[in-house]
Amino acid sequence: MIALTGKRVLVLGVANSDSIAWATAQGLAMCGAEVHISYQQRFRSRVMQLLKENPSVVTSAHRCDVTKDGEIQQMFEAVGGPLHALIHGVGYAPPETFMKPIYEVTPQEYSDAVVISSHSLLRVTRVALSYMPASSSIVTMTYLGGQRVVPYYRMMGIAKAALEATVRELAVDVGVHGIRVNAISAGPIKTLSASALPMFDSMLEQYPQISPLHATITPHDVAKMTAFLCSDLSDRVTGQVLFVDSGYSILGAYPPS
Ligand SMILES: NC(=O)c1ccc[n+]([C@@H]2O[C@H](COP(=O)([O-])OP(=O)(O)OC[C@H]3O[C@@H](n4cnc5c(N)ncnc54)[C@H](O)[C@@H]3O)[C@@H](O)[C@H]2O)c1
Repeated sequence: MIALTGKRVLVLGVANSDSIAWATAQGLAMCGAEVHISYQQRFRSRVMQLLKENPSVVTSAHRCDVTKDGEIQQMFEAVGGPLHALIHGVGYAPPETFMKPIYEVTPQEYSDAVVISSHSLLRVTRVALSYMPASSSIVTMTYLGGQRVVPYYRMMGIAKAALEATVRELAVDVGVHGIRVNAISAGPIKTLSASALPMFDSMLEQYPQISPLHATITPHDVAKMTAFLCSDLSDRVTGQVLFVDSGYSILGAYPPS
């Protein structure tokens, strides 16, 4: 197991026990990190229940809507420093955008998806920087739909493409402070957000047949890669998109069934 003893980390985006952010919080705590989390107000009661059932995982939990500068500021002030890792497990596109041709997406829908899923990485980093020493790590979550067309993903695909470009630009600007930033591109995992995507279940069912490793992805697989990216083992890795997808993204065609 990777040792993160002495590291303080903040994981954004816990909604419930299925969230990638929750598995990440658990994984980083198991590695010895002091873990702080954030949640959106609408998930407060579920998150409080989760913390009650798992009292040893999290040191503090904070309400934070990434569109609200005041909540971001308050959260970082409450967590304080030093902060050795920031995990951005936040994503959103208006669900109606999954169901219509991409040219019907309104400016407001486009903006909401990109502001919440991509620009928020910059918004939280801007405040986090005052608390992050050299050698700290920032990790965000992306999906193959940011690089290839995945049925129904549409607006979220555009937001993930923007997020991956944001990671590269940010890597240069925080690199001068010795801070690295990377994205993990996970294969499909059944979570609250993912369930909003039409045909998600059939995508998931095909995964063990099609992917080179013939295995579905769990949030704990993502947590393991996050632990690596938070550790000194990855201290010369920045600006990258690392796939945790059983190799699915290397395929150019699917084997006949
Ligand atoms: N589940 C998958 O198949 C999968 C695959 C690859 C990448 N991802 C990405 O992983 C990340 C986490 O998603 P998940 O699958 O764990 O689902 P999830 O629904 O558990 O988490 C999404 C989180 O985003 C938060 N969020 C949305 N709008 C917000 C806002 N304005 N302010 C603060 N938080 C906000 C929600 O509260 C929630 O906690 C997302 O970026 C998602 O796109 C998911």
